Amino acid sequence: MSLKNNKNNIVCNDYQTIMRTNLCGEINKSFAGKEVTLCGWVSSRRDHGKLIFIDLRDFSGVIQLVFDPNFDIQPYNTAKDIRSEYVVSIKGEVKERSKDTINPELATGEAEIVVSKIKIFNKSKTPPFTIEKKENIDEITRLKYRYLDLRSQDMQKNLRLKHDVIVSTRQYLNSKGFVEIETPILAKSTPEGARDFLVPSRLNTGKFYALPQSPQLFKQILMFSGFDRCYQIARCFRDEDLRSDRQPEFTQIDLEMSFIGIDDVINLTDGLIYSIFKEVLNEEIKLPIEKISWKESMEKYGTDKPDMRFELLIRDISNIFKNSKVKIFKNVLDNKGIIKSLVVDDFSKFTRKELDNLVDLAKKNGAGGLAWIKIEKDMSFQSPIAKFITKSEKRDLIESLNLKEKNLLLIVADEFIKTCSVLGVIRNYLGNKLKLIKRGGHKFIWVCDFPLFMLDDTGKRLSPSHHPFTKPDEKTSKFLSSDPLKVMSMAYDIVLDGKEIGGGSIRIDDINLQRKIFKLLKIDTEKIEENFGFFLRSLDYGVPPHGGIAIGLDRLVMLIGGLDSIREVIAFPKTQSASCMLTNSPSKVSGEQLKEVHIDVIEEKKE
Ligand code: AMO
Repeated sequence: MSLKNNKNNIVCNDYQTIMRTNLCGEINKSFAGKEVTLCGWVSSRRDHGKLIFIDLRDFSGVIQLVFDPNFDIQPYNTAKDIRSEYVVSIKGEVKERSKDTINPELATGEAEIVVSKIKIFNKSKTPPFTIEKKENIDEITRLKYRYLDLRSQDMQKNLRLKHDVIVSTRQYLNSKGFVEIETPILAKSTPEGARDFLVPSRLNTGKFYALPQSPQLFKQILMFSGFDRCYQIARCFRDEDLRSDRQPEFTQIDLEMSFIGIDDVINLTDGLIYSIFKEVLNEEIKLPIEKISWKESMEKYGTDKPDMRFELLIRDISNIFKNSKVKIFKNVLDNKGIIKSLVVDDFSKFTRKELDNLVDLAKKNGAGGLAWIKIEKDMSFQSPIAKFITKSEKRDLIESLNLKEKNLLLIVADEFIKTCSVLGVIRNYLGNKLKLIKRGGHKFIWVCDFPLFMLDDTGKRLSPSHHPFTKPDEKTSKFLSSDPLKVMSMAYDIVLDGKEIGGGSIRIDDINLQRKIFKLLKIDTEKIEENFGFFLRSLDYGVPPHGGIAIGLDRLVMLIGGLDSIREVIAFPKTQSASCMLTNSPSKVSGEQLKEVHIDVIEEKKE
């Protein structure tokens, strides 16, 4: 296939069939005088009485057709009854348009076709929206009539962009000795953080398959089987709350390698990203992609997904408030917490209401509050806490933060993770509000040196920062029994424009260590055997050192396509409530089908 996303340079010979000679989008004035046969959809029709104009669309573009009764009455009469989205074929001669009728909006705008023959393949009902004008159409309608929505140039471009990324990925990984191997979709419940989608088994009463959250264990087992390097464009399924960059079923570029260390996976992924950008977008990414430790990322950007497209760094000011009269500051420091701040250039961009909104945003994200200080004329502090700030604290703040008149200082005091992450949310909010993010440029960053465990929401139980198969870092693994929160991991994430596009790790290859991790995660012995017994047994038969990564394909394409929602790069996505508007799934099934899989549905009683 020779069609590329490269705007007007469409090479279309492969599309010649017995029904057409050319594609709509390839016609230009150099075709003048030629007779062409085209097929496509009627994008619009304008009846000017003496002439009828139709814009004909196929995936490659739109070309204007002219129906002139003086030239031929038959096609003119047919065109009178034609409506949007009819599927037609036309034959006609290409003409160069006169200067005053050129349409600069269309790639084909210097040409038109005077039609001598038209055939209607199929009629269409009036569509619920105009294909190319969807700004005011709600997304539910777009998803319900997805076949119409997908006809638009934007959606065609998005899905072809994804195709190009997949092609480029396969080429790159094949050239590096990877083997593409499929793994089961009817898989086993081996939880990776989200809920599983379950599939009942007809042949095994009361038993269930789980759709894979990722092919994690299978790709590891393929390393145990001696494949050395394998990959998969893998479908993954996770029953979790949806967001603009999350779908219940999505696709990963999933790869695993043997006899490697962290830098091998990172260098290979750098190369993959480089080649995708070069081949698909003709952009050169600067290599190596920079790295930042998890701790530095949290400290400076307030998140493990730092948006590097703008500065606005978070600064620690705990030292300055060691003897503070601000009660909350004192309490926090006494309890081993920290005080951190953001400095915004100009407080006049914030009304009192907007300051209150910032405080609300901090509270919504778990902080007790947010203190603000306006730096007024003569460097005086205006703030609800101004009277509690001593002269020397004021001097230290001005000096260490390099404060200037008109600056707005935002302060959060709490334990480390909460303080950082609340200011991280505010940093991202300000990045958008103050338009600090440069449009167009992409910024990648590797985040490394994660802790192996975090505390879960209850604050009492350990949960893996990545997944339970991640190898602890050698220097800190001695704390596994005594102080597991001190143990760092051999995991890494790759972040693009403030979104995590991929994550991976070097894996545990020692059965005793793997058992120990399960134990620390308080997974009971029976459950370990039930869920992971097969995997633990495989660790007993000669396992190579190995590791890998998975890149979220949809998320990557969404970001490089400059799109706001992952649904724009998935042909048939689910809504926020995990429903497919096109097919109305999930839906009820017949009693017969339920019986076959031994399931009884108990309807919830309505009050
Ligand atoms: P992880 O869970 O970090 O790692 O997933 C890897 C990448 O997949 C994308 N992603 C998603 N995209 C859309 N919708 C979702 N619901 C969703 N969830 C994740 C993200 C993420 O960075 N088995 C490990 C990989 C490994 O260790 O090799 C895993 O799946 O871009």
